[in-house]
Amino acid sequence: MAKKLNVPLSKVYMDEDIKNAVLQVLDSGWYILGQMVKEFEREFAKLCGVKHAVCTSSGTTAIFLSLKAIGLKPNDEVIIPSFSFVSTASPIIHLGGKPIFVDINPRTFTLIPAEVEKRISKRTKAIIPVHLFGHPADMDAIMEVAEENDLFVVEDAAQAHGAEYKGRRVGGIGHIACFSFYPSKNMTVCGDGGIVTTNNQELAENVSMLRNHGRLGEKYIHRALGYNFRFNEVQAVVGKKQLEKLPTWNEQRRKIAQIYTEALEDVVTVPIEEKWARHVYHMYVIKAKERDELRAFLDRRGVSTGIHYPVPIHKQPAIENNIGSKLKLKKTEECANLVLSLPMHPQLTQTEIDYVCESTLEFYEKKH
Ligand SMILES: Cc1ncc(COP(=O)(O)O)c(C=O)c1O
Repeated sequence: MAKKLNVPLSKVYMDEDIKNAVLQVLDSGWYILGQMVKEFEREFAKLCGVKHAVCTSSGTTAIFLSLKAIGLKPNDEVIIPSFSFVSTASPIIHLGGKPIFVDINPRTFTLIPAEVEKRISKRTKAIIPVHLFGHPADMDAIMEVAEENDLFVVEDAAQAHGAEYKGRRVGGIGHIACFSFYPSKNMTVCGDGGIVTTNNQELAENVSMLRNHGRLGEKYIHRALGYNFRFNEVQAVVGKKQLEKLPTWNEQRRKIAQIYTEALEDVVTVPIEEKWARHVYHMYVIKAKERDELRAFLDRRGVSTGIHYPVPIHKQPAIENNIGSKLKLKKTEECANLVLSLPMHPQLTQTEIDYVCESTLEFYEKKH
């Protein structure tokens, strides 16, 4: 075995060019919702092939404002996967709505459209498909169910910047979509941040108004009771610079995924990419029966791993208290016990990638 390396699960990118651009913004004296934010929004909209993009203070507030913009009211229901980060669900509850959890396809970790259809009721207002780990959900089938039942589709694309479904970028397929720039994501903004994308002008204006105290144009005229979920210029300039690099980074993530898959497919269940998908591997998530043992072994070898997610949302203490604890989602609960995220970021070196593969294989050699 090669000498011990420390391989992080993810790593943010920073360079002199970004630092210099930040210094210029600092010197400009304009820090909130200025020219940089406008430019970043325009460029991000282009990435998704949509007419509008509106920056928000986080991915969570992007989801919250999107739900508010579509008019989610108390007691409305929103159908979502339980196998996701908690903030796919929490904004629904904050708005007085009810998350309706459905099971996932364990191959892609995304919503099963037929299960969505079964849970539609008179109260259903929207569906939130999550493009988990960077693999898109089956959007055609979900859009069809939504159309037949007059529902909104709010894409949770927090983990899927640049991913494609049948050649179309996610973020431009549903009625409205939400991204996160949290530091582990495929692109970041040097802190918390999010963005909403849509082709619908009214929804975009609503989000824009609500993020800035209900103000649409004129100062000190508040058309709605809004929030302070604004975005700042420093983050926008970092976002602009990172967005330029996103295609190369996603390509690199895909190459690393291919190397992992070729090395590990005989010992663990490796992630798949549907024929219609372009996966951007926000996370490279394997499934292994002996997951906890493998994780401890990799940890001793210096390889950082993650469990996304050990407890499905419907089993989270804060959520169970809201919706009762009877719900059983077989595939979701199985996945929570098996998943393990291996190091994945575009700065991984060949030596580090090989080391992760060798360490994983060594675990299985010792076991057998
Ligand atoms: C699937 C999913 N939805 C929503 C969010 C919320 O984003 P943020 O952390 O920027 O609020 C995240 C980010 O962690 C996420 O992974």
